[in-house]
Amino acid sequence: MKRHLISAADLSRDDALLILDTADELAKISERSIKKLPTLRGRTVVNLFFEDSTRTRISFEAAAKRLSADVINFSAKGSSVSKGESLKDTALTLEAMGADAVVIRHGASGAPHRLANWVRGSVVNAGDGTHEHPTQALLDAFTMRRRLGSLDGRKVTIVGDVLHSRVARSNVLLLATLGAEVTLVAPPTLLPVTVDSWPCEVSYDLDAVLPKSDVVMMLRVQRERMNAAFFPTEREYSRRYGLDRERVAKLHDDAVVMHPGPMNRGMEIAAEVADSPRSTIVEQVANGVTTRMAVLYLLLGGADLGGEIQ
Ligand code: NCD
Repeated sequence: MKRHLISAADLSRDDALLILDTADELAKISERSIKKLPTLRGRTVVNLFFEDSTRTRISFEAAAKRLSADVINFSAKGSSVSKGESLKDTALTLEAMGADAVVIRHGASGAPHRLANWVRGSVVNAGDGTHEHPTQALLDAFTMRRRLGSLDGRKVTIVGDVLHSRVARSNVLLLATLGAEVTLVAPPTLLPVTVDSWPCEVSYDLDAVLPKSDVVMMLRVQRERMNAAFFPTEREYSRRYGLDRERVAKLHDDAVVMHPGPMNRGMEIAAEVADSPRSTIVEQVANGVTTRMAVLYLLLGGADLGGEIQ
């Protein structure tokens, strides 16, 4: 496994399966009343968040703490970043504190890649601009595996604002590595121009794709990243690309509905669908902790968990 996790493409099939299998082992810990292992005692994990986050930030913190690491949480608001300090100077400060791993979320695509040149520890990308979010893809794959078994040959449909979604890009790359077949469904205005080179299919007809899907992953319409009108009205978007009860009825019985959160309930996904038994949305959050534990554990040099979990 590489030292950093910046893109889902950094993971070979063996790496990805090792992370998912390790997460399976670690999930046993999460079911205990004492959810802690001594594995990363004395190690320091820094969470460096320049962009807002709820689930990702909290789950990285929980993951590091459950492995007994020392955790430093840094958010750009209230730090010297708001005084204009550069990413490089922030990195040098972290370096001086001896961070073993730096988890970074940043509005600029490529920021984790830059950071990796400046620090000695492992860099984990927790979302960079519209580029990648590899641990989200890992927790999604983990969730799919738990519900459906092996991902080989599984049909995964990813729907919505692909253009602004780092979740979509990382999922397409990881799912291809794991042997799943991905179809993207979006209005043409919300697909990146480079999508032809991605290892997936593209469709504009959600109703036609649903009956063949094992997984439907809905993406948030990311208004904060939109500087133009990408679709006529919200109503029109929901009518063509939203997942409501009538559309869910087209899925086969075992198919699951996913969403990375945060959701625009009533827009890309109806509230009753988000809260239905097919939905894995709450599981995805819980699985985020175990998957991120596995990532931190393996990046910081862990190998066989056998001796740790008794
Ligand atoms: C996503 C993100 O931040 O990229 N959320 C997450 O990490 N759970 C998706 C989004 O913001 O829509």
